[in-house]
Amino acid sequence: MIKVGVIGAAGKMGKEVVNAVLNDKDLELVCAVDKFEAGKKVADNVEIEEDIEAALKSKKPDIVVDFTQPSTIYKNINIYLDLNVKSVIGTTGLKKEEIENIKKKSEEKNVGCFIAPNFTIGAVLMMMFAQTASKYFNNAEILEFHHNQKKDAPSGTAIKTAELMASVNENLSNGNCEEQETIKGSRGGCAESNIRIHSIRMPGFMASQEVIFGAAGQILKIRHDSVDRKCYMSGVILALKYLNDNNKFTYGLENIL
Ligand SMILES: NC(=O)c1ccc[n+]([C@@H]2O[C@H](COP(=O)([O-])OP(=O)(O)OC[C@H]3O[C@@H](n4cnc5c(N)ncnc54)[C@H](O)[C@@H]3O)[C@@H](O)[C@H]2O)c1
Repeated sequence: MIKVGVIGAAGKMGKEVVNAVLNDKDLELVCAVDKFEAGKKVADNVEIEEDIEAALKSKKPDIVVDFTQPSTIYKNINIYLDLNVKSVIGTTGLKKEEIENIKKKSEEKNVGCFIAPNFTIGAVLMMMFAQTASKYFNNAEILEFHHNQKKDAPSGTAIKTAELMASVNENLSNGNCEEQETIKGSRGGCAESNIRIHSIRMPGFMASQEVIFGAAGQILKIRHDSVDRKCYMSGVILALKYLNDNNKFTYGLENIL
């Protein structure tokens, strides 16, 4: 049995992870941590605790799954690595240099860490298809749509998609005239290879993304919609089991599909 700790257990994603772990015969939930709902019972022998470090030292999980928030995730991962606990990270908002630092520390300490901006198979395929299309088009922009309680923008999925697209095409806004924004931000944020990312936030959406490619006389749209948080769980469980068998640093679910 793999002993699992869930960090952010009272949150929208954390609750789903707790259920998914409890329903998997190879996994045992040994601790749950959250700043809120401390003391609440989430399983027979597991109550929500407030302090990550104390919980890890006393309950000794093999792997933790973290779905907390962008402002705390870098600090959390450093705690996991310092305590030699492997981690599956769903929380978004990490900066590029932070991911580099985590990779270095994980490899130096030989403690596995699996970071995925998106744990759904459909979204991973959408990113891979967008990367392939970027070889054949010279103009592309990304639109991402989320609920209005999401704290970071653009989404980790949009950043990762832009990185994959940029890895195969140096410039994805060819031929655009010189632009002037009358209202600042109108053209979105600009990622590598001049890929514009537009973040839409409103109730009604959970998580969606559309990558639009344009060429003379044609438009290609590649779109993925997450409509229920359950869609992330098979990817999270896959990452947990993968990490149990090795100590690697991995960034992106596509690496283990
Ligand atoms: N990788 C993916 O596939 C994926 C999918 C959905 C959401 N996300 C990301 O996961 C994160 C969580 O999303 P959510 O919708 O569940 O948010 P949420 O606000 O519903 O839940 C976050 C929980 O974390 C807790 N928390 C925050 N800081 C903490 C800390 N230092 N210690 C303990 N608990 C802490 C909060 O109290 C809250 O209960 C976000 O960054 C979101 O973008 C990733």
